[in-house]
Amino acid sequence: MGEHFDLAPLDGVTFGATVTGVELRSITDDAFDQLYQAWLEHGLLIFPEQFLTKDEQNAFARRFGDLEFEAMPITNIKKNGDIESDQRGELVKSIRGNEGWHHDSTYMPVQAKGAVFTAEIVPTEGAATGWADMAAAYDQLDDETTNELAELEAYHSLYYSMGRVDLLPKENAEGGYDNYGYHDKDVSLRPMVKVHPETGRPNLLVGRHAHNIIGMDPEESTALIDRLNDDACQPPRIHHHQWSVGDAVVWDNRRLMHRATPFDVSQPRRMWHTRIAGEHQTEAALNHR
Ligand SMILES: [Fe+2]
Repeated sequence: MGEHFDLAPLDGVTFGATVTGVELRSITDDAFDQLYQAWLEHGLLIFPEQFLTKDEQNAFARRFGDLEFEAMPITNIKKNGDIESDQRGELVKSIRGNEGWHHDSTYMPVQAKGAVFTAEIVPTEGAATGWADMAAAYDQLDDETTNELAELEAYHSLYYSMGRVDLLPKENAEGGYDNYGYHDKDVSLRPMVKVHPETGRPNLLVGRHAHNIIGMDPEESTALIDRLNDDACQPPRIHHHQWSVGDAVVWDNRRLMHRATPFDVSQPRRMWHTRIAGEHQTEAALNHR
């Protein structure tokens, strides 16, 4: 049996690959099996020129698992078609918040397994998406830090991460938030090192949503989390993708963090994000088991 697609690992990075010679909208089961193994190995697969419809994107994402949610626009284009160029506007706030490195849905009871992300409208410059390899980041920790982290647990919350950068959404009539992720369940508690359920590799689990390590002074906790994030997200463990219309990517959210980068928000941008649900058994928070 021959190869089903061409795969080129990213240059000088610990993860990621560009995949060509495959049509994701009509991928065969055999090709998908091979693709899934490549996904586990590389963590991020980039597919140029796929031009998926929303339904095709969701169908491709469903091959990886149940969906946490279907294709959702990440955009500064309002429902009425106007561009929201106000830095304090609600659409822009959420994009700005995502400029901090994070894993998706660590603030939910169940962390996401991954995501399919596609580009429909891209600005002339900026707006690259970055990813960071938290398995490689774990591997380069010194022994003292490795030992310290082995027993530590931290809370993950969108209230915390958005509050810290002063980007909380507009309140509803009851003084709460209607936006996705601001649930009223217990704040998710997660280990700071998590073994990947399929590859068996240990991963650092921090990011912008992590806060208040159990048993640690709050300032010390913030300092440690910031240091871990800063040290992790450095070459050769990061890659930024500059989008072209029609690009699709799928990443392993158990291994990689990601972030948005700035762009001129007077220009329209529309991306589509389909979130693949984590399996409860392995991705549920410690206090949501
Ligand atoms: Fe995200």
